[in-house]
Amino acid sequence: MSTRILVVYYSSTGNTAALAESLAAGARETGADVRVRTVRETAPAQAVAQNPRWQAWIDTGPHQALAELADLEWADGLAIGSPTRFGGPAAQLKSFLDSTGGLWAKGKLADKVATSFTTASTAHGGLESTLLAINNVFYHWGAIVVPLGYTDPHLMESGNPYGGSFVSRKSAAPDDLALGALRVQGRRLATITTHVATGLKRAE
Ligand SMILES: Cc1cc2nc3c(=O)[nH]c(=O)nc-3n(C[C@H](O)[C@H](O)[C@H](O)COP(=O)(O)O)c2cc1C
Repeated sequence: MSTRILVVYYSSTGNTAALAESLAAGARETGADVRVRTVRETAPAQAVAQNPRWQAWIDTGPHQALAELADLEWADGLAIGSPTRFGGPAAQLKSFLDSTGGLWAKGKLADKVATSFTTASTAHGGLESTLLAINNVFYHWGAIVVPLGYTDPHLMESGNPYGGSFVSRKSAAPDDLALGALRVQGRRLATITTHVATGLKRAE
């Protein structure tokens, strides 16, 4: 059976969505079965309407099916991404993560292999704090956290060892360098997940 990878993201103007697609493409290169899912928009319409790019993104959606708890249970490996919001993940993503208590209580999230990705508008605007905050959830689940490190020559150029990221200056869309790092992250997640999932099945 193929390794099962779930990519879950929130995006309000498309940048995190582009990173998610690139990570998914990298995972598929390894032969993994990949699902890409988004999460429910919870911001009030009034807040969305104040940002034309946010409104446009919503108007052209839905961009992916909404993540279900069953998707989390299905997956061997997880990639979870969010734009940086005041130095942390978006509430929309957190709201989905906070709905996983039932799975967590049954131990269904333990031993999943997990990695995180983000985008922010400035280089020192909280990329790492967002990745670390998402990873905190993984620790509580008992997931096996996979950072990027500098495990591929590409990362010496694009490098964020904490996880794939992109600095969106003046609302720029993710560039090839960032998308390349996300591809590396997808391949790395799927490869390590295959090793872990195979070992776990053998031990059963
Ligand atoms: C409410 C809000 C808070 C934000 N907070 C930060 C921040 O703390 N640091 C930063 O560099 N960028 C911040 N940004 C910018 C976004 O993280 C950035 O534009 C990101 O690329 C958007 O990704 P998306 O297109 O997937 O929504 C913020 C944007 C909004 C709307």
